[in-house]
Amino acid sequence: MADSPLTTVLVTGAGGRTGQLAYEKLKQRAEQFVARGLVRRLESKQELGGADDVFVGDIRETQSILPALQGADALIILTSAVPKMKPGFDPTKGGRPEFYFEEGLFPEQVDWIGQKNQIDAAKAVGVKHIVLVGSMGGTNPNHPLNSLGNGNILVWKRKAEQYLADSGIPYTIIRAGGLQDKDGGLRELLVGKDDELLHSETKTIPRADVAEVCIQALQFEEAKFKAFDLASKPEGQGTPTKDFKALFSQVSARF
Ligand SMILES: NC(=O)c1ccc[n+]([C@@H]2O[C@H](COP(=O)([O-])OP(=O)(O)OC[C@H]3O[C@@H](n4cnc5c(N)ncnc54)[C@H](OP(=O)(O)O)[C@@H]3O)[C@@H](O)[C@H]2O)c1
Repeated sequence: MADSPLTTVLVTGAGGRTGQLAYEKLKQRAEQFVARGLVRRLESKQELGGADDVFVGDIRETQSILPALQGADALIILTSAVPKMKPGFDPTKGGRPEFYFEEGLFPEQVDWIGQKNQIDAAKAVGVKHIVLVGSMGGTNPNHPLNSLGNGNILVWKRKAEQYLADSGIPYTIIRAGGLQDKDGGLRELLVGKDDELLHSETKTIPRADVAEVCIQALQFEEAKFKAFDLASKPEGQGTPTKDFKALFSQVSARF
């Protein structure tokens, strides 16, 4: 029997803000993809509509994510440790809020161990492409995000990126700028390297555009074995990006 022409794609962190968009986009392209999602909590599955293609598992426990990965062709990693604001912050009094991570859900456990588990499990079941979303800022160990909740979040994310780049599996590492909940497809997208975009005016990108780039990365050889920073021009400046092959062709860095 001929292989199915459809690509089965698992999105982890599918209950998250970008993960949800990626999962929904895949569902809308049923002529091309079989969508699957992985969420940590049953409530997240219900919020996504409760379909059988949404699996519940915890990336800190490899066994719990294997069923979702079995038979998948590609994996889009959109999980992340999520800092919580300490209660009692009063914005009217000025100052900055303080953040913390819940016990067991520090970046070391989620962004390092949890991502490593996903990469190892994907490799074990024969996944052919992994797209990993990380964050800009990782070249600076003193980046303020690292002191958030004493989590060193960018350090652990970068360690996982390196692990993926060394894994031998075709990969695409997307280091996004500040994420915005705005419409996608309306902006010119910019790729960069080594956090150079952080020193420009264009440091942000809608989550919907990040989700789109994740899916487009699965479709072009030009996206494989590459790592890049990703941001967007403000809406109305430049030309909205439509040619993703050309976008990925601009990238030459493997890490
Ligand atoms: N915020 C920014 O401005 C920014 C900038 C650049 C890059 N990024 C990166 O872009 C990516 C997407 O960000 P986002 O804001 O869209 O994500 P998000 O909404 O924070 O979602 C992260 C998801 O990861 C899940 N998760 C956490 N621990 C897990 C575990 N142990 N097992 C399974 N799932 C787990 C969470 O589930 P629960 O809700 O159940 O915990 C959540 O659904 C992240 O890697 C983020 O760091 C963010």
